Amino acid sequence: MGFPEGFLWGAATAAYQIEGAAQEDGRAASIWDTFSHTPGKVLNGDTGDVATDHYHRRQQDVATMSELGIGAYRFSISWSRVLPEGTANQKGMDFYSRLVDELLEHGIAPVATLYHWDLPQVLEDAGGWPERDTARRFADYAERIGRVLGDRVHTWTTLNEPWCSAFLGYGSGVHAPGRTDPVAALRAAHHLNLAHGLAVRALRGVVSPSAQHSVTLNLHHLRGEAEAVRRVDAVSNRVFLDPMLGSGYPADLLDDTAHLTDWSFLHDGDAEIAAAPLDILGVNYYSPTLVREWDGVSPRAHADGHRPGAATPFVGCDDVEFAEQPGPHTAMGWPIDATGMEELLLRLHREYPHTPLMITENGAAFDDVVDDDGRVRDDRRVAYLRDHIAAVERACQAGADVRGYFAWSLLDNFEWAYGYSKRFGLVHVDYTTGERTWKDSASWYRDTIARGPS
Ligand code: FCB
Repeated sequence: MGFPEGFLWGAATAAYQIEGAAQEDGRAASIWDTFSHTPGKVLNGDTGDVATDHYHRRQQDVATMSELGIGAYRFSISWSRVLPEGTANQKGMDFYSRLVDELLEHGIAPVATLYHWDLPQVLEDAGGWPERDTARRFADYAERIGRVLGDRVHTWTTLNEPWCSAFLGYGSGVHAPGRTDPVAALRAAHHLNLAHGLAVRALRGVVSPSAQHSVTLNLHHLRGEAEAVRRVDAVSNRVFLDPMLGSGYPADLLDDTAHLTDWSFLHDGDAEIAAAPLDILGVNYYSPTLVREWDGVSPRAHADGHRPGAATPFVGCDDVEFAEQPGPHTAMGWPIDATGMEELLLRLHREYPHTPLMITENGAAFDDVVDDDGRVRDDRRVAYLRDHIAAVERACQAGADVRGYFAWSLLDNFEWAYGYSKRFGLVHVDYTTGERTWKDSASWYRDTIARGPS
């Protein structure tokens, strides 16, 4: 087997996508509550008010994880549930504390993400991620939750996909809070880097010394014309990778965006903070991205759903567009190509050889149905997972230091701007009754983990 000893097999979820109970036990609104309740922002007017009702079905869901045989569960903590108005909400804290205890009772390592896109609305009202103070508030939140869960959490992840928070949230506006201001997006990116570094520092001061510290990035595996690839790589990958891994912002990124901002929001000492030492770099991978020069005339397609005419999330890349890629595609329209994952892991291994890696999300949406006999025959998801796990294995054999793989997702859930229309789960959720049904992919994943892949 090409996987190293102790390799973690897991599944991932995120708070707003599964919990529901949006107004229970003292939880306050996050930017995703506001956004999803704004007409036209989420498909079919869906909201996360109930989601998969995980808040009330936690024990059942942990039992499912145990049956799957996963060794680790990656979940996120809702900031506005645990610190609704800046002061601790005991009921919110208790929810996660019980979850962590139940995971440990089942021998499942808790992998906790502090921020999976759900900024408390009060902080957005104060300016959100474009404001420096949000980073300080994040570190305060990290420290407080670290004090509560720090003796039991195996791995801490500061941020999930800060690229989406900054550039989809404040650039193209397809995610909450829905702003379309390129400078705000760059400011947000910087304050997310800062928040990450401050939070790692704060956590290290209060949690178990054996805990691992990480961040999860959705690195774009780019193909296409060299100059387009360079520009998009700067503003989607290196804008986070380089500061977090110690080399500061890339000079070409500063040049490419100089017509927009002088980066005066970058203060002395910030680079050192953002570069707080990491134990693991989390990587989310779904598909490769093909870019090319844009002719400036035809409607421009973008990565976020390929919506022609939408504002670009690739700030400073005004002459770049996305090219359609050959099939097959998932229900998201994303091309299926596992070679991109292997190439991405090998690139990271080459460029950051001392940073261990973990696949913190990988999976696919398909239009699953529960057949009359109660089975969900999701053969395409099985094939997707099998091919991508094989790609991780090849990367390990070629020397990449990959420590784990988390399937996205444990359950079907609220897929952001697509609402409940896209199903990524290993387990099917009936949104009328909340009923869970194992898909064939769940059984396949269980057997794969039990047998050891390949
Ligand atoms: C990632 C997100 C995750 C989910 C998957 C499909 O970008 O981190 O919450 O939406 O995509």
